[in-house]
Amino acid sequence: MSTKRFSPSGPLRGRFRPPPDKSISHRAALFGAMCDEPVTVHNYLDSDDTRSTLEALLTIGAGIQDGDGTGSVQIRGVGLHAALEVTGGRLNVGNSGTLLRLLPGWLAGQPGGEWVLDGDESIRRRPVDRVVEPLAMMGAGIEARDGRVPPLRVRGAPLQGIDYDVQVASAQVKSCVLIAGMLASGSTTLTESSQSRDHTERILRRCRVPFERDGLRMTVRQVDELELDEITVPGDPSSAAFVVAAACLVPGSRVVIEGVGLNWTRTGFLRIAERMGAVIVGDLAEPGTVSDEEPVGELDVAYSPLQGTEVSGDEVPLAIDELTLVGLMGAFASGETVVSGAGELRHKESDRIETVVEALQALGADAEETDDGFVVRGDGTPLPGGTVDARGDHRIAMLGAIAGLASEDGVDVLGMEVAAVSYPEFEQDLAALLG
Ligand code: S3P
Repeated sequence: MSTKRFSPSGPLRGRFRPPPDKSISHRAALFGAMCDEPVTVHNYLDSDDTRSTLEALLTIGAGIQDGDGTGSVQIRGVGLHAALEVTGGRLNVGNSGTLLRLLPGWLAGQPGGEWVLDGDESIRRRPVDRVVEPLAMMGAGIEARDGRVPPLRVRGAPLQGIDYDVQVASAQVKSCVLIAGMLASGSTTLTESSQSRDHTERILRRCRVPFERDGLRMTVRQVDELELDEITVPGDPSSAAFVVAAACLVPGSRVVIEGVGLNWTRTGFLRIAERMGAVIVGDLAEPGTVSDEEPVGELDVAYSPLQGTEVSGDEVPLAIDELTLVGLMGAFASGETVVSGAGELRHKESDRIETVVEALQALGADAEETDDGFVVRGDGTPLPGGTVDARGDHRIAMLGAIAGLASEDGVDVLGMEVAAVSYPEFEQDLAALLG
């Protein structure tokens, strides 16, 4: 485990292009593998998590060509009703919760196949009962350890369509059921409890799958094949959020972020940051915008003093991966920042309610946990600094680094290498902006 020191810095300045989107990369590869014809994915994320997806797809018989230096990956799929060449075995999902929840939706509809999905120590704590329930209702044979966590055994079967209410606001569960729905007889209808990221819906429409959505309720119908020849992955707003936070917190900063995904179901953090007083200029899509394409644009972010805010309810899933950064910004802001209704944070790569509060307290912040969120109080002055243990969570490691730049005395991050799960070039990109 490596310890890295992030010292107080001068302003961040310049133009910056975030790495490709992790969520969309996973989906592009997975849908590519479900096609009969080859699919080119441009700007595929090269990170630990998205490599796990390519490796899992290779294991089940897809062909993958990458490494030509352009960031494009060619996927030779096996078809939706896969004549999977390998109809069983162990699939290592590494640290990827998205792969763990989406892939079973496809495997569940492959009669005759049997797979076991497993991964690292953190993945073995991540709940999968949320996908076991709907897939079992559809007719799959599916079992999790203690009924709850991986290893997850999936036995493919002919599936039937269902009408299902997704209890947790989770794009991963929604996506799993939608994918299985393409293989299930008739139609599958699901209702999500609150709008979560809609990348799967957009890719379904792009693949010409019969799909309708009305508010939180959506229906997908069985199809024989998918139509897709190429797809381009935009920059990841969740990775860009670390630079947004740094520019907001380090006095004098001004950064232009190019080629970043601005899908409104991913930009909740930017709306929250603006409410705190952040100066962000960008072409943000209006909430509720429906489109097949993933909107991409530019953000211009400048330092500004911040005030505390409250985040709850429908805003939570739209900023789920950035809520820890809201906590960090709250520690530098004046007043109280309260995040509630975010119990899902306890089921991420770490228990992010516990890990973010532990990290902020270690840096001198007034922060406390609640059952479903946290409260942070600031007086508008920088945090002193200290040591952050990433606890194996890429987003906590990167948060520690940003805290260091904006702190009075600097921050040591234990386990910084875990950033490679989503953002291998993180430290180089920061260094370039610090000139
Ligand atoms: C993701 C959905 C979210 C998010 C995760 C990626 C996705 O998880 O936290 O990083 O790609 O669908 P949940 O759907 O479990 O909230």
